[in-house]
Amino acid sequence: LKLDLTYTNGFLGEEEISNAQSAVNALHDDLQQKRTPGADFLGWLDLASRTLQEGVADILETAKEIREKADALVVVGIGGSYLGARAAYEWVKPEYYNQLSKEQRGGPEIYFLGNHISADAVSDLLTVLKGKQVYVNVISKSGTTTEPAIGFRLIRQWLIEQYGEQETKRRIVATTDASKGALRKLATDEGYKTYVIPDDVGGRYSVLTPVGLLPLAAIGVDIEKLLQGAADAEKEFGSASLSENAAYKYAVLRNALYRKGYVTEIFAHFEPALHYFAEWWKQLYGESEGKDQKGVFPASVGYTTDLHSMGQFVQEGYRNLFETFVHIENGTHNVDVPSAQNMEDGLEYLAGKSLVWVNDKARLATQSAHAEGGVPNVLIQVPDRSEYTLGQLFYFFERACAMSGLLMGVNPFNQPGVENYKTKMFQLLGKPGYQK
Ligand code: PA5
Repeated sequence: LKLDLTYTNGFLGEEEISNAQSAVNALHDDLQQKRTPGADFLGWLDLASRTLQEGVADILETAKEIREKADALVVVGIGGSYLGARAAYEWVKPEYYNQLSKEQRGGPEIYFLGNHISADAVSDLLTVLKGKQVYVNVISKSGTTTEPAIGFRLIRQWLIEQYGEQETKRRIVATTDASKGALRKLATDEGYKTYVIPDDVGGRYSVLTPVGLLPLAAIGVDIEKLLQGAADAEKEFGSASLSENAAYKYAVLRNALYRKGYVTEIFAHFEPALHYFAEWWKQLYGESEGKDQKGVFPASVGYTTDLHSMGQFVQEGYRNLFETFVHIENGTHNVDVPSAQNMEDGLEYLAGKSLVWVNDKARLATQSAHAEGGVPNVLIQVPDRSEYTLGQLFYFFERACAMSGLLMGVNPFNQPGVENYKTKMFQLLGKPGYQK
């Protein structure tokens, strides 16, 4: 993983980063000693290496059963109990995974439920599932989050109608708190297979717990390589030194830009496969930093698609933006532009050139144009779409997020603000105990 700051030149001086070293030293020490605000939620720091040591045999066994018996796996969850698995699925697997044959996929189709309250989306999913052998992984730490609780009720009812009560119990795997909560109780009562979300890992830092590992293993993602990437990243981004630790450098940089009025960060990528990685990233930074009337607002774009929509604003609109580009150096495939002399589309000069090369020139041009337009931008280069690289990148952003929030003076590990809409919604829904 390489951090390239070429296009922050002219916006930030090198000393604005190095001057933060003593603050970073102190906060790094606090993190290592677990003395930060929200210190009860620092289990993610060495989660990957601990999980590799303990082994993932049980997860792999359950995943194998799902792979053998299921045509489709429905993963029920929202927020931190949803976005990590979806990000990794879309990063690693082909664009049209669910449309491939079972032999090509090597595992079940995968669908996500409980991340909305849309009757249309639920009905459309149930239509697609008709006639398939379906397994469900319901994921909720609290077990009472409204969206997944509704989604789970619906899919459980559907399973019972298809397979009966007893068989339904064998097809549900619950990932939840070790001892507390409604889902733990139901899982115990019904005898579901269960996995634990550790107490010391918050939702948005939980992708490398069973929250992400089980559904990913079930569709054939190599979770040991994913964990290995993150475990190696624990070392790579484990030093306090800003000249050695790219994650901390990125954290300092975004704080420095924020103080200069660049209060919106746009995560930019050139691969559709990164769409949900960007969604995961937005939750991580938005929930971690957006509090106490502070925070860089995290947004995202998928280029070149969005160069034809948001590109205008980024180039010339209100100037409070900076961009973070994540670029994958080697994709899975290459495709050349074909020659076609008679098409008059002005493209013959590109005949024989690879799309990878063309896409990369588009990325370079965009970085340069946006910097000229007053948008500083950072480039994070990663070698490929492997599980190992993804594990590294997950950890890179988690480490950076923790340091960035602490530098900003907020607790990066809580999310008190997400309760407010719930209280109002429960009043409107007439939930007992919430009447005005
Ligand atoms: O990051 C978080 O804590 C949230 O996004 C939660 O993950 C989300 O609200 C889901 O919560 P639960 O797992 O309790 O259903």
